[in-house]
Amino acid sequence: MSQKNIVVAFGGVSPEHEVSVLSAMQVLSALEDSSYSTIPLYITKSGRWLTGELLKDLSNYKDLPKLESQSHACAFVKDDIGRTLLKEQDSKGLFAKPKSFPVYSVICAFHGSEGENGSFQGVCEMFNIPYSGSGVLGSSVGMDKVKAKQLCEANSIPVTSSLDFYEKDWEDHQETILNEAELLGFPLVVKPSSLGSSIGVKKVGDRDELIEAIETAFRYDAHLLVEEAIHPLMEINCSVLGTAEDCRASVCERPLGTTETLSFEDKYQSGGSAEKGMASADRVIPADISSELTETIRTMAVHTFKTFDAAGVARLDFLVNEETEEVYFNEINTIPGSFSFYLWDKSEISFKDLMEELIGISLKRHQAKNGRIRSYETNLLSEKAAKGIKGLKGTKG
Ligand SMILES: Nc1ncnc2c1ncn2[C@@H]1O[C@H](COP(=O)(O)OP(=O)(O)O)[C@@H](O)[C@H]1O
Ligand SMILES: [Mg+2]
Repeated sequence: MSQKNIVVAFGGVSPEHEVSVLSAMQVLSALEDSSYSTIPLYITKSGRWLTGELLKDLSNYKDLPKLESQSHACAFVKDDIGRTLLKEQDSKGLFAKPKSFPVYSVICAFHGSEGENGSFQGVCEMFNIPYSGSGVLGSSVGMDKVKAKQLCEANSIPVTSSLDFYEKDWEDHQETILNEAELLGFPLVVKPSSLGSSIGVKKVGDRDELIEAIETAFRYDAHLLVEEAIHPLMEINCSVLGTAEDCRASVCERPLGTTETLSFEDKYQSGGSAEKGMASADRVIPADISSELTETIRTMAVHTFKTFDAAGVARLDFLVNEETEEVYFNEINTIPGSFSFYLWDKSEISFKDLMEELIGISLKRHQAKNGRIRSYETNLLSEKAAKGIKGLKGTKG
């Protein structure tokens, strides 16, 4: 392949759509002077797949209908020698021919929903193309807070006490759920199992607030989590880079919220500038904590990354009781905002290096997958083999 095309995939049907656009613009500009060509793959809020040069410029996103109308619908297709191409599905000029680009690797720059929960990763697996970040398993378990906590518990990673329930349970057994929740002790935190960006997350101090928070959270998700609130709370995040077999931890960060629970506004709207993306949120790097606590968290971050079979760059978020310094796993972000580059920047890796490393890891994982036997020459449907199958037309069984 002469041209090494990196498909930068972003957007998507997700509440974090805009954040994903920012992350993607960072990737595109970081790879501008690299040996790769970059091809944007923008998934609109309604789920259309688009490509085209205009999608590389952040200022074009101010007028989305115009941008959509000037970009090309696109799809992954297999050519007749089995390569996967990102292919334009339409042409914009009378004599223009739809272009197609052989895919060298995909950088997944989605945040939230199908772009981060393993669905898009599954599409890449089906097309057998290298892609950045965690695979289907790590991505999907990582997106589900209930399953993520269960996996941690089974692997001796401390988590807060909690209970989870579905909407039907709530309708049928409200009293029991409230009593069980109260046994955990107020204050409590209510959260939807598989959202992000603090949407639907609420700290509550009594039964009435709890009921209200639960009703609100069910507007976002059919599966909820109620957990003990850590107080006094200190949040510490740490990024891990590599594969489950070989990975390392970054420096730690302490994000600063204006209220105790970091809100969507704290994360993305508090005077953040587009180029900086997530890096502009208020944070202390390296976290102003003891070296012992730093090492505890970095070790736990690596152990958690391996437990989830994560890959590429992930950010592990921990809740720390500021008084006792007890550490609890809170969540894994398998595609962290701005790829957590600002944590690696401080560890002497630039954004561009980080992207090159992500591409390298994607290729390594792809080679490892393809180096194994994945299909068999024997045709089990050949006439002889199919003979014994009862109840099927066309067999003699
Ligand atoms: N158990 C808890 N105790 C205290 N605060 C919490 C707890 N869980 C979450 N929070 C607060 O709520 C914020 C959002 O919760 P989180 O689980 O990280 O959801 P999201 O996936 O939406 O980021 C956290 O950053 C933290 O400030
Ligand atoms: Mg969070």
